[in-house]
Amino acid sequence: MPEFRALILREEDGQVVPRIEAVDEALLPPGDVTVRIECSNLNYKDGMVLQGLGRLVRPYPHIPGIDFAGTVERSESPDFEPGDPVILTGWRVGEAQWGGYAEEARVKASYLVRRPEGLSARQTMAIGTAGFTAMLAVIALERHGLRPASGDVLVTGAAGGVGSIAVSLLSRLGYRVVASTGRPELREYLTELGAAELIERVSLAAKPSRPLDSERWAGAIDAVGGATLATILTQLKYRASVAACGLAGGSDLPATVLPFLLRGVNLLGIDSVMCPREERIQAWQRLVRDLPLDRLERMTETVPLSSLPDLAPKILKGEIRGRIVVEVSS
Ligand SMILES: NC(=O)c1ccc[n+]([C@@H]2O[C@H](COP(=O)([O-])OP(=O)(O)OC[C@H]3O[C@@H](n4cnc5c(N)ncnc54)[C@H](OP(=O)(O)O)[C@@H]3O)[C@@H](O)[C@H]2O)c1
Repeated sequence: MPEFRALILREEDGQVVPRIEAVDEALLPPGDVTVRIECSNLNYKDGMVLQGLGRLVRPYPHIPGIDFAGTVERSESPDFEPGDPVILTGWRVGEAQWGGYAEEARVKASYLVRRPEGLSARQTMAIGTAGFTAMLAVIALERHGLRPASGDVLVTGAAGGVGSIAVSLLSRLGYRVVASTGRPELREYLTELGAAELIERVSLAAKPSRPLDSERWAGAIDAVGGATLATILTQLKYRASVAACGLAGGSDLPATVLPFLLRGVNLLGIDSVMCPREERIQAWQRLVRDLPLDRLERMTETVPLSSLPDLAPKILKGEIRGRIVVEVSS
């Protein structure tokens, strides 16, 4: 019986326990394309799944990993042939069905995107859901009129995955980027990625005391949520927008409607998981064009599958810098 190696989560005495095991290929979920996986990565949501948090996974045993890159092994879809290089992000793979922390996965063909020319499997996973989300946020801000001449653009959670790629993309596109971080010791790292200025995340973290503050940001990409997002709304320039991507600091929003009514600002929601396929392909093309690969390399570390259980609590505590690529065969 053919088997593949995977990091599998089992529920034992109410605890979610990770182990690397050989898994029978017959247990793969239904789908029309089977992919031989080269690499995956670590995102905030993977940290939650690995820790058994947020009720994201129902049946165990489960193979996590919300992203993967690899090569088509078998296909019943006319859209893919054996040997095609493909990537997958989102669609609740790695949560509602088995994901990328394995040498093999089986998914619907419509979930797959052909690996963009100009990027290796490892580079696509260094980008992964976090970088794809940062790109969607930049595109949304541009659609709402943001241009480099508009003024300073704020990125919160700047040293994390979404933040690091957002800083790199925006600075490459000619924006003056202000990076908000709780890790001022990473000044050199963030400056190398393209941040023109750093601010301490505590300066945005208190619930706003006034409905409007001085107009400061021409645009913002927020990975933090909570009072940070509420503060950003009070500081956006007239008709400027914030792209809300994350909840690393909380899922509440202690805000008033006054910035919308008096300054015409926009709160743009960003969802990478169910994003339609056409938009995905366009966003990956933009990443090929706009993300400097030397900066991507600088922010990326590669680890084996066996490191994931130790890294999961770290990403949830905001202790991971940039991006982590996972080699599934090592
Ligand atoms: N909308 C979507 O489709 C989508 C897709 C991907 C990710 N996300 C969300 O985006 C967020 C970031 O994901 P990620 O993969 O970039 O995670 P990450 O690598 O852990 O980055 C999050 C960053 O947020 C900052 N942070 C952490 N805890 C904080 C706190 N309590 N208060 C304020 N800032 C805090 C830290 O940056 P500093 O050390 O620089 O302060 C941390 O590095 C997560 O909430 C994730 O769920 C959403």
